Formats: sequence, C-alpha cells, structure tokens
Amino acid sequence: MAYDLIVIGTGPGGYVCAIKAAQLGMKVAVVEKRSTFGGTCLNVGCIPSKALLHASEVFAHAKHGMEELGVEVSGTTLNLEKMMGHKDATVKSNVDGVAFLFKKNKIESFIGTGKIVAAGKVSVTAEDGTVQELETKNIVIATGSDVAGIPGVAVEIDEKVIVSSTGGIALEKVPGQMVVVGGGVIGLELGSVWSRLGAKVTVVEYLDNILGGMDGEVSKQFQRILAKQGIEFNLGAKVTGVEKTEAGAKVTFEPVKGGEAQTIEADVVLVATGRKPFTAGLGLEEAGVVLDNRGRVEIDHHYATNVAGIYAIGDVVKGPMLAHKAEDEGVALAEILAGQHGHVNYDVIPGVVYTQPEVASVGKTEEELKAAGAAYKVGKFPFMANGRARAMQATEGFVKVLADKETDRVLGVHIIGFGAGEMIHEAAVLMEFGGSSEDLGRTCHAHPTMSEAVKEAALATFFKPIHM
Ligand code: NAI
Repeated sequence: MAYDLIVIGTGPGGYVCAIKAAQLGMKVAVVEKRSTFGGTCLNVGCIPSKALLHASEVFAHAKHGMEELGVEVSGTTLNLEKMMGHKDATVKSNVDGVAFLFKKNKIESFIGTGKIVAAGKVSVTAEDGTVQELETKNIVIATGSDVAGIPGVAVEIDEKVIVSSTGGIALEKVPGQMVVVGGGVIGLELGSVWSRLGAKVTVVEYLDNILGGMDGEVSKQFQRILAKQGIEFNLGAKVTGVEKTEAGAKVTFEPVKGGEAQTIEADVVLVATGRKPFTAGLGLEEAGVVLDNRGRVEIDHHYATNVAGIYAIGDVVKGPMLAHKAEDEGVALAEILAGQHGHVNYDVIPGVVYTQPEVASVGKTEEELKAAGAAYKVGKFPFMANGRARAMQATEGFVKVLADKETDRVLGVHIIGFGAGEMIHEAAVLMEFGGSSEDLGRTCHAHPTMSEAVKEAALATFFKPIHM
C-alpha cells in the first residue's frame, strides 16, 4: 500500500511531523529503529535528564536549602535506584504517549532500520533481519544526531566509566570524582545532577567561557553561580586524551594558548563535546541525497533535499540541535506538503539550560549585535530587587533586554534565574510580533511574580526601572 508520507525517525521532529501530516489528512507511516518512539529526546535525552535534574535539585534543596525558610529536614538520604526509577517511569509515560498519539491519528509504525532505496521507496529491516519495502509519495529524514566524540581524540565510550549523555543518566552509583569534557549544555546539566548528588565535578572546556555562544554576561555570572555550587572549571583547556585506568579513568588536557599538560583522575568521565548528524545506513549516497561539508543533509527553504520527494528536518539538518526547533520544522514541513505555507522563524528560537538557576535566551546576544555593528540599547534588572524572588530565596541572576536603538524593537532577551525557562516565552511572543521594549514594559505583569523582573528590564531599556 502506498503512503502519502513516510517519516524515518520518531524523535520530536519526526513524530510531530507525522502527527501534523495525519491531522492534515495524509496517510502516514513512521519507521523507528528503537523499540520505543520519541528518539534521543524522550528516551535518553531531554526528558530523562529533566527527571534527574528535578529530583537531584529536590535532594540538594532538602539537604541544604531549607533551614533559612524555617524548614528543618534531618537525615536526608539518597536512594539513587528509586531516583532512576522515577526517571525510567517518566520516560515510559512519554514514549507510550507518542505511541498513543500515533494510534489516535491512524499513523502506521514500523520498528526496524529504515533505508531509502530510491525516491518513493523505503525498506525497513527488523531486528530479526526480515525486510519490508514500503512505497510513499514523500519521505522525511528525521534521524537526528549522535554523540560526536572529542575532535581528534580517540575515546572509547563504554557508557560505564567513560560515558556520553546516555550513560551519564544511568550511572549505578554517584562517582567520587567526575570529569566533564565540554562546558556546553549537556556537560553543565548532567554535571549539575551529579554534583548535587555528591560527586566532585570538574569541567574542562576548550573555550574561555562556558556555554559558548550565550550572551557573555550571562555566561560569566552562570559560571560564578555554578562554581559557588561546587563545580570546578578549567577553561581555555583542550582535552587531548581520555583513557581508562585500573581505578577508573584519566583525562589529559593542556592550555589552548600553550603550556604544560595536566592529568586528572576520575571515577567517571562524561564526554559532552557536541553531537553530529546521524545519517549512517540510510542509503543517502545511493539515493543521491547531497550532504553539506559538515555531514548534514542539505535542504532548501522548504526542507527539500536535492532529490524530489525527499525532505529532512531536525538535528540532521543545519541550525541549532534543539527538540523544539525540530518540532517546529516538522509542523512547517507537514503544512508545506499539504499545500499550506508552513515556516519557522529562526530568529525567535528560545534556548534553555535546565540547571538551577536556569539560563534562557531568545534572539541576539550582545556580542552578536556588536559584531554586526548594530546600534542597540541594553536594559537589565537583577532578581535581587524583585520581591517574589526574595520571598523564595531565588535572588540569583538577572534579566537583560537588548533593543534596537532607533526603533526600540526587542532584538534579544537573556535571563538567568529561577524559572527562566518559563519566563523567556513572553519575550519570544513579543519578538514574534515585532514588539518593542516599551510594549513589554507597559504590559501589566502580575505582582508578585519573577516575571516582573522582565518588565523592569524592559522599562530599563527604554527609560528607567521603577524598583532600582
Ligand atoms: P555543545 O556544543 O553545547 O558543547 C560542547 C562543548 O565542548 C563546547 O563548549 C566545546 O568548546 C567543548 N569542546 C569541544 N572539544 C573539546 C576539547 N577537546 N576539550 C575541551 N572542550 C572541548 O555540545 P553538548 O553539550 O554535547 O550538547 C550537544 C547538543 O545537544 C547541543 O547542540 C545542545 O544544544 C543540545 N542539547 C540541548 C539541551 C537543552 O536545550 N537544554 C540539553 C542537552 C543538549
């Protein structure tokens, strides 16, 4: 039987695309090589890591964060097995949710490795080796990404001692010393989890700042906060070797600017140096699908590859490797295939780091505006001056608004603080509508809320804040 659309890969890009296409009346099938749907994000990425981030935060809070509030908790102990059980149950309910949505939308699913035989033809090889061939009008490649490893360094990831994020969310005991290679999002989120649970965590990062690409002020303050929480940083340091030893592992690194190499012993090494598009075994070469110089599937503005009827979205194409970017591309592509005008505004894609406090941003950083020679103004407001933040002892961090000097249009918003990942969306909506800092500053915000700091930062951008 022929389908209108076959989606290969059921991560946030693929499964959302499939559902949207089915909602728009297409006959849709999905091919997935894991036994459960949801891809990296739901199975071993965003969702399980957020379960552990929340649980470890509650543990750390119960251990040292409550006395000042008059809540005295004694004898707080960690039951890691149970915490992992909570994580596994969270994953199960989410992946089962996707299976339910597929059924509800009459999407057929094939478990096995999908390969593009030619335009309009996909083969599925099941675990037992049986092969099925499916026919379709259109194919969407949504195969996501895989661990990139450390550039130029041979590392054997065994997911026990030397782990990627996959092993990093499944350790059987809290390591004494954990070395994190890469001070990006994965390194800092999972480093935070194990640090809160009692590990000594040392981050080794090539750049001179953590979260490269984030607004510089935010990155600096974030590093100070994490250091206060006990995480140690070696910045401007290039990891040149990760080896297993009898006792665990050792990590060798040297200053990027030149100098002597150092070695740290570790019980566990987390390799968090980025991800690469996953296209192995998909038959792209045979099908004639062109990749770019970074191994990503090349697409045009409508997600079409160079081969008619074959499209690609998510981590396997250019742009930030973020689940919500992939989801929005999935929706846009389904709409395009249905003859509508789907599109994604790449200027307004929020990014969130789910540590405590959270870091969230949307739009341009100050460094990007400077580099572009843009005339801009800045408004800032610290949570220290926010009543609700004081009441909750969540005074760390600030909101920073960047707006065009002439037109006052908001160009970027950066927040570090408790709940930043939720607060950022008012800025995203404002920016989607081309709003100004005055629009934001004149919008009534409920009192007392953390979000009032967003309003105050906007007031600071076009005139003056009230509470400073
Ligand atoms: P990343 O690209 O965010 O960070 C990798 C870091 O490793 C960089 O700062 C880089 O300078 C450093 N590095 C590379 N080689 C090195 C070396 N030899 N020595 C020392 N440092 C080195 O990658 P990460 O954290 O692995 O995340 C992968 C992807 O997953 C990213 O695109 C990220 O956006 C996404 N992700 C997003 C999350 C979120 O939105 N909350 C959570 C987790 C992952």
